[in-house]
Amino acid sequence: MNGGSKAVYPGSFDPLTNGHLDVIRRSAAVFEMLTVAVVVNPQKREPMFSLEERKAMIRECIADLSNVEVMDFRGLLADFVREIGADVIVKGLRVVSDFESELSTALMNRSLSGVDTMFLMSDAKYSFVSSSLIKEVFVLGGDVSGYVPEPVLRMMNSQRRAVPIKRSSSK
Ligand code: PNS
Repeated sequence: MNGGSKAVYPGSFDPLTNGHLDVIRRSAAVFEMLTVAVVVNPQKREPMFSLEERKAMIRECIADLSNVEVMDFRGLLADFVREIGADVIVKGLRVVSDFESELSTALMNRSLSGVDTMFLMSDAKYSFVSSSLIKEVFVLGGDVSGYVPEPVLRMMNSQRRAVPIKRSSSK
């Protein structure tokens, strides 16, 4: 890889966490250009935020980074990285179990596209932070302010006001 490297950081970002933002900032310092690639339809379940909301929150959080852009993609990541001429895929690794699934994914993506995946070790303070856990804690009334950037927290709170979360009373 040379100095003109273009990296893609893919994910659902439903929503962006402080752990994601840390990977974005550290990647932006290494690669000449970084594309945060938001998958249109996350595979897991119905997203909390629409594609446009997820992209808008990321854009607000990376406004100070001149070499980072936000795009979306549908279908295969391997097709997307080839389409935009990326040199490398970036992923964050939090725990050993992440590695188990990421290994086969990285090998498949390289087999399909010829593009390698590079891994950044997540900062230890984010090793337990995931979008799905944050959503669960938030829905159950917990404080997630330490785990998501301020623009994300604002969006989560405004969604809670728009659609109050029902909690059943325990007897
Ligand atoms: O934030 P996530 O949900 O862990 O991100 C998962 C993502 C979007 C990176 C992954 O689901 C993906 O790459 N989806 C695109 C579909 C694809 O290429 N599948 C084959 C992978 S080998």
